[in-house]
Parts: sequence; structure tokens; C-alpha cells
Amino acid sequence: MGFFDKIKELFKKKEKPPVADSKEAVSELESGEEMSSFDAEAIKKDMQNMGVEIRLEGLTKEFVEKKTNRITVAVDNFDVTIPAGKLVGLLGPSGCGKSTTLYMISGLHKPTAGRIYFGEDDVTDLPPEQRGIGLVFQNYSLYPHMTVRQNILFPLENMQVPKEEAEKRAQYMAELVQIGDLMNRKPNQLSGGQQQRVAIARALVKMPRVLLLDEPLSNLDARLRMQMREEIRRIQRETGITTIFVTHDQEEAMSISDEIVVMKDGVLHQKDKPQHVYNEPVDEFVARFLGNPPINMIDGKIEDGKLIVNGRVLEKVNLEDQPIHLGIRAEFFQVDPKGRLEAEIEFLEHIGKDTMVIASIEDASRTFKALVSAQTIKDLEVGHKIRFNYTSYFVFNAETGERLI
Ligand SMILES: Nc1ncnc2c1ncn2[C@@H]1O[C@H](COP(=O)(O)OP(=O)(O)O)[C@@H](O)[C@H]1O
Ligand SMILES: [Mg+2]
Repeated sequence: MGFFDKIKELFKKKEKPPVADSKEAVSELESGEEMSSFDAEAIKKDMQNMGVEIRLEGLTKEFVEKKTNRITVAVDNFDVTIPAGKLVGLLGPSGCGKSTTLYMISGLHKPTAGRIYFGEDDVTDLPPEQRGIGLVFQNYSLYPHMTVRQNILFPLENMQVPKEEAEKRAQYMAELVQIGDLMNRKPNQLSGGQQQRVAIARALVKMPRVLLLDEPLSNLDARLRMQMREEIRRIQRETGITTIFVTHDQEEAMSISDEIVVMKDGVLHQKDKPQHVYNEPVDEFVARFLGNPPINMIDGKIEDGKLIVNGRVLEKVNLEDQPIHLGIRAEFFQVDPKGRLEAEIEFLEHIGKDTMVIASIEDASRTFKALVSAQTIKDLEVGHKIRFNYTSYFVFNAETGERLI
């Protein structure tokens, strides 16, 4: 039995049982509840069983330029497991292979090598329409001549879902994304946020096993983006659909994801819970990519078991001699007259009760940012010397970016 047949079966089972046969239905009638809420609960329950684990094994995509035969390796031997029912953020800079990964999962691109599994099913060679996926793009891609209702219903037409059932599902999805009262409008009569909600409803109405979102909020203004972020989080929780959310925005990924997959140049760098990726980056790239302001990287070296910055020994370490980058996040710093790190104040940025101190260290080539309590620097000005201590730090090899501490 195909996947969509299974869905049809599921929906058939949800027909309201005759009143006489069902205690539940009787008590519902007695409590005066509407029939539609019974359906909504049932749809919700079935959707919660829809999320499957996604497993990528050695997934690779090479693009060959026809004229020059030049090869771009967009995705390079990707091994990753996306847990069932979770929302995973696929994060990396523009051009790192996020969309290509998503298109291979959806079946729009054929992998050069590797396999894709949804649960136990190897879907690598299935066409997109047989995979049970819902796709949402950055630009919404709604049909402009159709109403919201027609847009949402459209995917069900090919699936031969009975009309009444299809209407019920469309209405349920529209309410889930809170556009139930806009069903008769055309896309050009909607705001960007509303259009994106329609696109999400259209992706969900098929009751997919997997929801794939490719930078879905990039076209929205900052405030709406925050709001829609929470909405997507809520919709994902309510439906329990395994969701991959592609973004280049680390803050967005951090705030929305159960887990983050960080990639660069087609290669997976780290996969973990957002806070863990932030607190325990595996390498310099990940450390730099997460966090706002970006982590400070201070040039230094290891010599005879000592970590040295600007001629001063900061730490005793058990490492070979090598040039390093000392990674310290702005919030790790504290002003301390006896602190190990001496710098000169270049600029002070007052942010409420805190102050961002932009300071420089001779020989360490760059300025760094320290977020400290305004109280602790109230007598200090630009040009003054300042001493810091730090509560935590990372050490990376300056050439390879490998994390050493
Ligand atoms: N159809 C294509 N033909 C050739 N190269 C492509 C094609 N699609 C993507 N690429 C290249 O693959 C790399 C990854 O692209 P993409 O997956 O779109 O990145 P992202 O979504 O992370 O911005 C880029 O170098 C891009 O130029
Ligand atoms: Mg992309």
C-alpha cells in the first residue's frame, strides 16, 4: 500500500461513528460539542503519528558545468540522522549546500551518491510525490489566480481525496495557521506573513511525513519574522511532523530548533542541541558562526606548555607549540584590576545596564568586544587601560581551526 493510500485509510477511519454505537459521540452530543472539533482532534492525533526519522547516508551532490566540465561539490558525503518528530535547523552560510540537501530529501534533485531513508523506507529513488513531503520556499510560490482555499486544496486534487474530506482538511489547516477567515482572498490581497501561512497550510494539507522549509522567513520584515518563528514552532509541536528548517541566520536557528546541523562547503561540522553547539563548538568555524556579537578570536601562541598573548602568559596548557586563536565570547569577560588580559579601551557602547567595551590588545592584531556591567567601568574612558578576566575560553589551532581546548 502506497503512503497516500495509507493516509486515505486513516481519513476513512475517522468518519464519525453512528451515535447509537458510540458512547463518545453521545457524550459529545450531550455536551453540545460541534462535530468539527471531533474531526480536528482526530486529524491532530493522526498527524502526531506522521513524523518519521530522516537518515542521510553519505549523501553527495556534484554539479557538472556543461561547457567547462567544472565540478561543484555542493553536498559532500553528508551523514546525519534527523530524529522523528523534531524540528531541526539546517544552518550555514549562503552557498554551503543547504537547499541542495533539502532538494535531495524532497526528491527534486537526484543525489550523485548516498541514500535517504524515511524511517525504514529507502526513498532515494522515489519521485517527490511518493515521498510524503511538504515543501515551503522563501518566496511562498502560491498560485496567484487561485483563492487561499483553492491554493490549499490544490495538492489534494491529485490525491483523489473526496471533496467533503478535502474541504474539512483545508479548513483545519487554515485554522491551524490562523488564516481560517481569509479563505476567499487571492494571494495579492494578503501580507507576506499571511502568504507564508497559506504556503505552510498547503504543505501540511497532504499530511506529509516530513516538512521541509527553505529559508521560509527571509522575505518578511524583522518583527514578523520573530512572530512567524514562534508560529512555526507551535505548528510543528501541534502536528509532530519531522521538520527541517533551512536558514543562514544563526539566531533564527538557535531560537527555533530542537537540534542544529551546522554545515559549510557541503560538509557537516556539528549537530547538536542549540545551547550545546554554542557552548561546545567543535571547531573555529562553528564558534564564529554562532553568537551575536560574534565570538572574539585573539591571536596567540602555545610555547613550552604556556598560552601566550601579547607576551603575557595567560594559561598553563598541555599542548604542543603552535600558533592559536583564543576564543572568548563577549559575555565571558569580567572587569578585574588583577585580570590577566590587559587592553586599551577603543570605544564604549552603552546598552542599558550593560556596556560593550571595544578594546584592543597590542600584537593581538584585532579589537575585541567585552560585555560587562556598566557599574564596573563607570570610572573608565576611551584611551584608558583596562584589565579583564574571563570565565571561560576556547583554544583553536590558528591554521586548521581545530578545537584544542
Ligand atoms: N543547479 C545547479 N547547478 C550548478 N551549481 C549549483 C546548482 N544549484 C546549486 N549549485 C551550487 O551548489 C552550491 C550550494 O548551493 P545551495 O545548495 O543553493 O546553497 P545554500 O542553499 O546553502 O545557499 C553553490 O556553490 C551553488 O552555486
Ligand atoms: Mg538556499
